[in-house]
Amino acid sequence: MKIIRTIDELRKQVKQWRREGLSVGLVPTMGYLHEGHASLIYRSYKENDRTVVSDFVNPTQFAPNEDFESYPRDIEHDAQVVGDNGGDVIFNPEPDEMYTDGFCSFVDMTGLTEELCGLSRPTHFRGVCTVVTKLFNIVQPDRAYFGKKDAQQLAVIKRFVKDLNIDVEVIGCPIVREADGLARSSRNTYLSKEERQSALIIPEALETGKILIQSGETDTHKIVRAIADRIETEPVAKIDYVKIVDAETMQQIEKIDRPALCAVAVYIGKTRLIDNFFTEDIKENAE
Ligand code: PAF
Repeated sequence: MKIIRTIDELRKQVKQWRREGLSVGLVPTMGYLHEGHASLIYRSYKENDRTVVSDFVNPTQFAPNEDFESYPRDIEHDAQVVGDNGGDVIFNPEPDEMYTDGFCSFVDMTGLTEELCGLSRPTHFRGVCTVVTKLFNIVQPDRAYFGKKDAQQLAVIKRFVKDLNIDVEVIGCPIVREADGLARSSRNTYLSKEERQSALIIPEALETGKILIQSGETDTHKIVRAIADRIETEPVAKIDYVKIVDAETMQQIEKIDRPALCAVAVYIGKTRLIDNFFTEDIKENAE
């Protein structure tokens, strides 16, 4: 397992693999790798000859008031996780390697990015689309792996890959949870012991929504209300949003009459956590 810090060196490595006829998987991350990332790396390892894991806290997807500076970083631990799960290279550039002096070109999107997280983080997806496009251009992978926890991000990436004719298969992978149900996230490390306990209200409330849908409820207002009511029983939880949207367009829907995403963003103290489920996934599990 090799750590590469420059675009030139990474391109040389990938070209070498291509000359040998090898397929390449890419797992884009911001590092501080946990079990969720490990599952993506392992899946890429199973489905490709070589796997590149990018490990880059991308400044352009953070607003000035957000946690770019304090976002946790630990490259030695990350190298261990990548190696243990079959990754071949960690790409860990400095910000000025990715954003050279005078950088002024961005990949932006309308519609999909204006709902859910886009409302409270209006510049976030422009940064995500830009850095992921750059990573796709640098690595030119056959397949790229993203977690379904960032469901809107996954939909946005699938959309721009289609719109901009980028030749990569985008693969969404299941959310990995702690034993008690909390979705794995690098931001879970911000939670105090008490907040960590309070955060369980998020998966519990989503479970309430799942049960309603599985029992035949299709009125999204009723489902959203039931989830929000459950979250509001926890005093330290503050809802950013609870929404049910079309799984592809991310636009709100009145009835569950097509594949939908039920997504929440909740502040536990100062930490904003997201979680969700796709109605198609709960149908599959019920069958
Ligand atoms: O999901 C993330 O960790 C980031 O948004 C990504 C896709 C690596 C882009 O910086």
